[in-house]
Amino acid sequence: MMNDFAKHPVDETSAASLAGNGLRYGLVDTSDRASFTAWFQADSRGFHGPTMSKEQVDSSFAGVTYRRTIGVWDENLVAPEVPVATTSSWTEQLTVPGSRSIDAWAISSVTVSPTHRRRGIARSLLEGELRSAADMGIPMAMLTVSESTIYGRFGFGPAVFAAELSIDSKRATFTSAKRRGKLQPVSPSEFGSEAPQIFERIRTSTPGQIKVWPLRWDQISGKAPGDEDYTKKTRVVRFDDDGGTPRGFVVYRVTGGGLDFTNHSLTVDYLLAENAEAYEALWRYVLEVDLVREVKAELRSVDEPLLWNLTDMRAVKATPVDHLWLRILDVPESLSARQYSGAARIGFDVSDALGFAQGLFLLETDKTGTPRVSSVDELPADAAIVALSVNELSSLYLGGVAVESLVTAGRVREVTAGAAAIVERTFHSPVTPWLSVWF
Ligand SMILES: CC(C)(COP(=O)(O)OP(=O)(O)OC[C@H]1O[C@@H](n2cnc3c(N)ncnc32)[C@H](O)[C@@H]1OP(=O)(O)O)[C@@H](O)C(=O)NCCC(=O)NCCS
Repeated sequence: MMNDFAKHPVDETSAASLAGNGLRYGLVDTSDRASFTAWFQADSRGFHGPTMSKEQVDSSFAGVTYRRTIGVWDENLVAPEVPVATTSSWTEQLTVPGSRSIDAWAISSVTVSPTHRRRGIARSLLEGELRSAADMGIPMAMLTVSESTIYGRFGFGPAVFAAELSIDSKRATFTSAKRRGKLQPVSPSEFGSEAPQIFERIRTSTPGQIKVWPLRWDQISGKAPGDEDYTKKTRVVRFDDDGGTPRGFVVYRVTGGGLDFTNHSLTVDYLLAENAEAYEALWRYVLEVDLVREVKAELRSVDEPLLWNLTDMRAVKATPVDHLWLRILDVPESLSARQYSGAARIGFDVSDALGFAQGLFLLETDKTGTPRVSSVDELPADAAIVALSVNELSSLYLGGVAVESLVTAGRVREVTAGAAAIVERTFHSPVTPWLSVWF
């Protein structure tokens, strides 16, 4: 599969600034095995990963060929074919409130070789990605981040948080009696054929979720070659309802134990549940596995219902981290793409150092929450007006970040009294935004 975006030429401004530093900026020919292999090795090195095996390269090669893959090369090196910097991007559907979606430019694999760090290469790459996306008419950019210190300067703001859970399984008893349905161990292949369909039904109603590509499912279930230890340890259990229809999966590993064999740790690598029955049954399963003291999970919702399934909420320690960062490029397109909670008239005075989202915008919603957005020369005096940068507008976009917190932190300014409460009420998403994968 090849998409038009994959062939979109690299940004000329970034190409010129990198050329000024003796570096070549260009698209990787993803049909050319040698070039793509060199790029994969650079990407893996950038994230402190291992040198990739042939099997790993083969599966990645098949899995991400469709993306717009970029390298920066320094021709003066002993191995000039290996890029000193990488990115990989594609258009992805991001779910927004109201079970709708927006096309977003997903930016991944941002690496710069430690030998070439802090000379402006990442800045050229990021600004190049944003200009290219805007050029292609894509209204939003997004990424998941290794550090929260890098992307604010490019106009990104954290919009979806994820929780890391640590659960004391000995304290975890359920408020309700065990429900019906059937649990059974299944193979990673079974997961690969059933889970994506279940996930699709969840994705389209959960703001912050994106489509998950087949290679990522294979990596989650341990089917993709790569980390042998992960693959060997991974177990998959499926939940079927009384009618025999699969409604959920849990992918997990049990590690540790030591001399006291009751002291194992169980890591939930993915828990997918289509309904409350499947959700409770799968969590109950992992929390009742024998010889386990602690159950850990990453990338869970910050509003995880599990806490309410348990008699002792304090059995769960949840640590939230910023996970999905958004960057609005086109304000009217982005604000028009989602549904709101009711009627309002809101004015945004948006600043953007890179210019894409700079301006005055009026959002008018009717009582069904359907929006109309316009770029204006002056904001009407009867609107609820806030002044903010594109970072904060991007953080607020999915309705999972409290406006009042940003006002208190000095990140959003109320131009008209009470405006923050109106933005809060209008933007709030009844479904807590959640993204259950990295990209
Ligand atoms: C993060 C990374 C891509 C930065 O690359 P780089 O080429 O050294 O960055 P630049 O020189 O272009 O720096 C651009 C700006 O970001 C800042 N910056 C770069 N890396 C930063 C970091 N890790 N934390 C905070 N600020 C950072 C620079 O100080 C500079 O600031 P300024 O232009 O506002 O003065 C690189 O260090 C890297 O590959 N890290 C490991 C992989 C990784 O974490 N990638 C991000 C994936 S989400």
